[in-house]
Amino acid sequence: MQPTDHPGIYKRNDKLFTQNPEGCKGTRVYNEQLITEDDKEYRSWNPFRSKLAAALLKGLSIDIATDAQILYLGAATGTTVSHLSDIVTNGVVYAVETSPVAAINLLKVCEKRRNIIPILSDANHPERYLSIVPSVDLIYQDISQRNQADIFTRNIRTYLKPKGSGLIMVKARSIDVALKPKQAYELVCSYLQTQRFNVKKTIDLEPFEKDHAAIAIKP
Ligand SMILES: C[S@@+](CC[C@H](N)C(=O)[O-])C[C@H]1O[C@@H](n2cnc3c(N)ncnc32)[C@H](O)[C@@H]1O
Repeated sequence: MQPTDHPGIYKRNDKLFTQNPEGCKGTRVYNEQLITEDDKEYRSWNPFRSKLAAALLKGLSIDIATDAQILYLGAATGTTVSHLSDIVTNGVVYAVETSPVAAINLLKVCEKRRNIIPILSDANHPERYLSIVPSVDLIYQDISQRNQADIFTRNIRTYLKPKGSGLIMVKARSIDVALKPKQAYELVCSYLQTQRFNVKKTIDLEPFEKDHAAIAIKP
């Protein structure tokens, strides 16, 4: 297993891995491959199931310290959340999900991982989780809704530390079906720029995710 430039993220044969914490050894979250080396257990990170893994394989460089506080919007059943939880061994992932059905599976992931705080809430209303979520180092959003850039903006204004980072996964068809994917990404980028965010990078997630891009910003 080779460490990468990102602490907590490993590579083997061009595949990404994170380390399963001691208390989770032998436990899979989404049927991922487990590999033991030197008494440590690693979980494969599938870029076809996690847009963050896809973005990393396509050249995303992101600073996630082991003690980072992360606000994750659109946690679903916890696939990507679980890998972030592996990375921030001394940090916390605040995982917001609006669907009670998805949240049931997310709760199962949280039972063994003490650094995930599940929040059943609508990210359209960041004020609703003010009593739970502190200022954070990273806001990650994966919500396929037309107003996704606006949701992202309002959560950044409420929760992101001045030196924090934001990462939004954009589904082109959710923005406007009439636009070509690249035009949809440009529309989101210009909206974020009008909100005075510094757009650092846009990464097309093909071939892992069709018509999706990751857009990284700084406030
Ligand atoms: C594409 S899935 C996320 C997959 C997940 N990020 C992963 O990689 O494991 C999008 C999720 O966003 C949730 N969602 C949609 N609108 C939301 C909102 N307004 N607030 C919170 N979650 C929302 C959906 O219920 C769905 O579970």
